[in-house]
Amino acid sequence: MKIAVIGGAGYIGSHTVRELLDCGHEVAVFDNLSSGLTQNLFPEASFFKGDILNVASLHQFLSDFKPQGIVHLAAFKAAGESMIAPEKYSVNNITGSLNIINEAVACGVSYFVFSSSAAVYGTPEYMPIDENHPINPENYYGYTKFAIEGFLSWYDKLKGMKFAALRYFNAAGYDVQGRITGLEKNPANLIPLVMEAITGKRAELLVFGNDYNTPDGTGVRDYVHVNDLAIGHSMAFDQLQKTNESFIVNLGVQQGTSVLDVIKAAEKISGKKVPYRIVERRLGDTDSVIADPTKASKSMGWKAKYSDLDTLIKTTWHAYEANK
Ligand code: WQD
Repeated sequence: MKIAVIGGAGYIGSHTVRELLDCGHEVAVFDNLSSGLTQNLFPEASFFKGDILNVASLHQFLSDFKPQGIVHLAAFKAAGESMIAPEKYSVNNITGSLNIINEAVACGVSYFVFSSSAAVYGTPEYMPIDENHPINPENYYGYTKFAIEGFLSWYDKLKGMKFAALRYFNAAGYDVQGRITGLEKNPANLIPLVMEAITGKRAELLVFGNDYNTPDGTGVRDYVHVNDLAIGHSMAFDQLQKTNESFIVNLGVQQGTSVLDVIKAAEKISGKKVPYRIVERRLGDTDSVIADPTKASKSMGWKAKYSDLDTLIKTTWHAYEANK
């Protein structure tokens, strides 16, 4: 299939492009390189530098390439920042997504795979979190993801464009074959921050609270390897083609890992100490967030292969070593 990956030079985007190419798809990348990197591009996929806020450039890209499918991962994703600068998230995540959706329809795209987030659920009311869990985003970022799912569902009804919304839990790791090593420019998530503390890029890691209701008191999350996420995107296209029905699925592994588990694994794998300090809880954080991925497994046959803690940390450590 011809697939356009919007945001294909970014962290999850580049892994998704690699996977789609490996599955034999013809891929073109559209990215403004605001957080994406040219280093993350592959010669087998054509590249168009453009911005999702520029409708003319989106139109030119899509009408030239004429894809049957789109993956959309061009979004800002810092939940904390979205509470301080919601305007930025409205413009890029909402207006930008509507531009893509409108141009996709105008250019006859059949299948749309959208990068959604577990942030749509907010504080868990029960666990593991399945797709029927109430939607109650606690940050504006999560709300933008939910709003876009809503637009896609209306465009399915009104225009017949079929979509898959993939609700990622905590994306982590780097390509298991070492083919992608472009580091995120301003990482805000735990595992890259642990790496920065090990390599001396930051003085220490701040551990946000050790008085949570979890086995060791630190926050527990469901880390899913970026190669597993990438595979989820190609399976989503297969599923859309097979059933011609839109769907929403969680991509997580139902495995809880605490902040201290991550630190210990990073110390074991790197052979170095992680300088860290326990500080106050971070606003908006919760004890545990764990996915129920049964639907993804039953509907598309998705099963995480690389999301064990060792592989998550090893592959991230390799990417950091490659950038020394
Ligand atoms: C993980 C754990 C922190 C940093 C975020 C978004 C969410 C989704 C995934 C995209 C928590 C602790 C972290 C640090 C720490 N994104 N931590 N010190 O908050 O679970 O989820 O990414 O869709 O929307 O909110 O991820 O990596 O920030 O935190 O102790 O310096 O690590 O408290 O327990 P989070 P995270």
